Amino acid sequence: MIITKENGKKQIISQSSGQKFKMIAKTMMGLEELLADELQQCGATDIEILNRAVSFMGDMCTLYRANYTCRTALSILKPFAEFEAYNDQDLYNQVYKIPWEKVMDVDCTFMIDSTTSGEIFTHSYYAALKTKDAIVDRFRKNFGHRPNIDTENADYKFNLHIADSHVTILINSSGESLHKRGYRQGVGIAPLNEVLAAGMIKLSGWKCDCNFYDPMCGSGTILIEAAMLANNIPAQYYRGDRFAFKRWKEFNLGEWKRVKEQENRRIGEGDFDYEIWGNDIDMNVLNQCEKNLEYTKLHKDVMLHCGSFEDQDPPEGRCIIVTNPPYGERIKVEDLNAMYQQLGDTMKQRYGAGREVWLISSDFDALKHIGLRPSRKIQLLNGSLDCRFMKFELYDGSKKDKYND
Ligand SMILES: C[S@@+](CC[C@H](N)C(=O)[O-])C[C@H]1O[C@@H](n2cnc3c(N)ncnc32)[C@H](O)[C@@H]1O
Repeated sequence: MIITKENGKKQIISQSSGQKFKMIAKTMMGLEELLADELQQCGATDIEILNRAVSFMGDMCTLYRANYTCRTALSILKPFAEFEAYNDQDLYNQVYKIPWEKVMDVDCTFMIDSTTSGEIFTHSYYAALKTKDAIVDRFRKNFGHRPNIDTENADYKFNLHIADSHVTILINSSGESLHKRGYRQGVGIAPLNEVLAAGMIKLSGWKCDCNFYDPMCGSGTILIEAAMLANNIPAQYYRGDRFAFKRWKEFNLGEWKRVKEQENRRIGEGDFDYEIWGNDIDMNVLNQCEKNLEYTKLHKDVMLHCGSFEDQDPPEGRCIIVTNPPYGERIKVEDLNAMYQQLGDTMKQRYGAGREVWLISSDFDALKHIGLRPSRKIQLLNGSLDCRFMKFELYDGSKKDKYND
């Protein structure tokens, strides 16, 4: 590991193979514990749950593995410099001292995301601007020209995090958010975020040990995430090469290939022997779902049906049902309350004992019209929408059980 110390401040420039360092994995609200479990599977140590994030220790192989396999991670960040700054000039001076040329070449592009809290730096955009100025000024002085900013597809994405006077600069090793799995060929009007879909499946407790059904599957995000889990397909198997760490100076192609090969060798382990079914009322959106399934070569693992949910039984036997019905936000439904009431009736009349239904919605009023008491309620965010992910356990007496929460 190369550590430079400027006035006692830590700056980690690059790690040698096997050297452990701290990382932060970002996720969505409510998925932190799931991500901590996934990171442990990757060999991470010193795991600590934070708000919408998990911190952990690992080496470059852990960083590659976490990026490649964690279904509930949005990005993996590597802290890079930490110091105190008490005003704008101080921030500029400290950033200027960092040997940026050891991290990136002058012909690379970069961008800075910033979050600030406390009373010293009240404008995160201005703090990012000062940081950018210091970086480009250092390059200009040493090389006569400067790296350019690219807000879309930068080679280096830095996160500037300031809490009071404490400044942390992290490098985003993932680049584009890890919810962009690379399998979406077609979408409906309201596709679910892939990380949220994977998190919902894991929260439902489905261990790939019974059938699985999504009665309102849209373009199939929940189904594809379930089929990938059932077949042990790494989360980023379809993403190709779109990882920021591949452009880093310290990128080790041999180690990256070894991590990928190890994970890919596990595909199909477990001999999943159950049914995964999807249903939607809209044939156009089902065509998009079919396209996505064909792209992932998972079309033989998932059976699709077109119709209204009340006309379709789930697969026989024990089955976990996870679904994302319309909330009336992006998909307009004439009478959402009536639709949710119909959903509750279908659960009682067609699904019955041995089936567990998990559904996510931001319409709390409509949820009451299901007419069943949920046995669990988990708060999740779908974009900016405050949602409840609710579990309904069905049994023969479900019909008499009234919602009274
Ligand atoms: C929020 S979207 C689901 C999005 C999906 N999770 C995805 O990632 O693409 C809700 C879906 O419910 C479907 N839908 C609405 N009413 C339905 C009904 N009565 N029966 C079956 N599907 C219905 C819509 O066509 C839409 O695709």
